Amino acid sequence: MKRIGILTGGGDCPGLNPVIRAVVKKGIKSGFEIVGIKDGWKGLIENSTIKLNESSVLNILSKGGTILGTSRTNLYKNLQDKEKAVKNFKRLNLYALIAIGGEDTLGVANKLNKEGLNVVGVPKTIDNDLNATDFTFGFDTAINIATECVDRLHTTAESHHRVLVCEVMGRHAGWIAVYTGIAGGADVVLIPEERIDIKEVCDTLRKSCKKNKGYAIVVVSEGAQFKKGDMVLQEKELDAFGHVRLGGIGNQLAEIIEKETGFETRVTVLGHIQRGGTPTAMDRVLGTRFGIMAIELIDSGNFGKMVSLSGSKIVAVPLSRGVSKLKTIDKKLYEVAKVFFG
Ligand code: F6P
Repeated sequence: MKRIGILTGGGDCPGLNPVIRAVVKKGIKSGFEIVGIKDGWKGLIENSTIKLNESSVLNILSKGGTILGTSRTNLYKNLQDKEKAVKNFKRLNLYALIAIGGEDTLGVANKLNKEGLNVVGVPKTIDNDLNATDFTFGFDTAINIATECVDRLHTTAESHHRVLVCEVMGRHAGWIAVYTGIAGGADVVLIPEERIDIKEVCDTLRKSCKKNKGYAIVVVSEGAQFKKGDMVLQEKELDAFGHVRLGGIGNQLAEIIEKETGFETRVTVLGHIQRGGTPTAMDRVLGTRFGIMAIELIDSGNFGKMVSLSGSKIVAVPLSRGVSKLKTIDKKLYEVAKVFFG
């Protein structure tokens, strides 16, 4: 019986468990044995695995997070780790590996495939910034959570005649901010792709407050930057993939808005709330379809591919395309949000 390994790497997101469930169910039906690798690439380096069968995936469809655990370990950080991982791939007698992750995890998957291992990628991130797929699962859940939060901010902002700033995730791309801003009726949406012009923001808020009976809502991506200045960081230290920890732009923005406009301003940072909990139906379905397609690719010997959503169809694209660049915001979509500014 051929063995398939499966792992989840990078930041978790709702929808990972539906992929695992689909891989296990479809994999077993297709005659494969499925082995779970714990905590992303760390598990492959340390040979830490768990056998997956139908009972392992019972009742996980609606569960957030990942039953396999995750890590931000980069096995290409040093040669020894890479060699251990490749050795374990062989020791585990894996016919193929399914790597579920974002740009970092799939970047490693792509390199391993180039070294001759049979690898297939499944794209995930709440940020929706992966190239070569229209959407990633996790994003729909994140924007639904964030929109509900913004709805709640409206009522308290209105009562107190305040400006409320809501900081959402989105390291390099403003997808979460723009979708949340449009769905939640924000007066200003600020994203990593466009530098913040604070004078313009304050002028817009003055207009909004006049029309809105004295209140306004701002949605800002954690990765947004002022015209002059850098990303606002929580921690300067780099992770294994060279990323800093973002956070704090909302607070800086609120301070300036209050000072410049005189409007009482408060901040809400949504943080990991956006990544936790039950996946939406859309994310469950997308994750399930991705998982099934991953098995189909392996069954037909089609390696080095990433499953992807193209329109309403699930297709296969080269892994190298998925990780070649980040998918930043669709400018036309941002223009839609801007119609409601001020
Ligand atoms: O990449 C997804 C993401 O949620 C980003 O939006 C965010 O910057 C980052 O992960 C947070 O990572 P961590 O959970 O390691 O703090």
